[in-house]
Amino acid sequence: MSARRKPRSRQLLPWSVAATPAILVAVLGACMTATPQPVSAPGTLVPVASFAAIGDPEERSAALFVEAGKVLQSPRCLNCHPVTRSPTQGDDLHPHIPPISSEDAIIAAGLPCATCHQQHNSSTSNPGIRSIPGAEVWALAPASMAWQGLTIGGLCRQIKDPARNGDRSLEKIRVHLSEDHLVGWAWHPGEGRKPAPGTQEQLGELIAAWIETGAHCPTE
Ligand code: HEC
Ligand code: HEC
Repeated sequence: MSARRKPRSRQLLPWSVAATPAILVAVLGACMTATPQPVSAPGTLVPVASFAAIGDPEERSAALFVEAGKVLQSPRCLNCHPVTRSPTQGDDLHPHIPPISSEDAIIAAGLPCATCHQQHNSSTSNPGIRSIPGAEVWALAPASMAWQGLTIGGLCRQIKDPARNGDRSLEKIRVHLSEDHLVGWAWHPGEGRKPAPGTQEQLGELIAAWIETGAHCPTE
């Protein structure tokens, strides 16, 4: 904050001394209003250090989660965290082709996702499909972990809720986001798919900083 104030008070120097207190009050007032969310270039994440400019820890915490949300709400994650029991595909979250549901008897009986999704991204002879995504143990997120359609605040509250997040502590959520192989796949999604923004390491750092600042959620 003081860094922001400095250039302004230098501009004030030639002004009359009498006007200075009123202007100082105005400048201080401006500094007290909410600091805007730092902006990153498309495909990148704002590093944790850039959030130091937000003085209020609660506000900083929520802003860190909004930044992490650029990953969490990317199509690569949302396609596997649908509201129905059917995964979606592509950047527009269209229904999975072929139609598939984890409630289908055939899946329940063990035609697993791995019938088509191998342990690594694979190519296909079908010209309409550039690659089939793959990773070790490819599976649909459980119903309680449905993320599609949630606001960033709603997603934040859900991810913190042990009743809905697979009974995870905040620390376990951090570890999952930093190390899980399906999360990691989002940065190596195979030909024809846009990776999640930034890096998985940066996501881990944002989440660690979010937890350190009290794991506050954006209101919206
Ligand atoms: C291939 C499907 C798939 C993809 C892609 C995927 N997930 Fe998941 N996700 C799952 C499954 C399955 C679980 C449940 C695993 C468990 O509880 O052990 C899960 C659980 C989670 C959880 C823990 C519980 C909760 O609160 O939802 C988080 C956090 C999570 N995923 C984040 C992500 C993020 C972030 C991405 C993208 C970077 C992502 N996932 C991409 C399938 C996927
Ligand atoms: C019959 C084969 C088949 C089965 C079974 C199958 N998939 Fe797929 N899936 C595909 C193909 C092919 C694609 C690639 C489509 C494309 O990108 O054009 C795909 C793409 C996806 C994507 C999109 C990834 C992205 O970000 O665009 C997700 C998510 C997904 N599948 C999840 C699952 C889950 C979860 C299961 C098990 C419940 C499953 N699939 C079962 C063939 C299958």
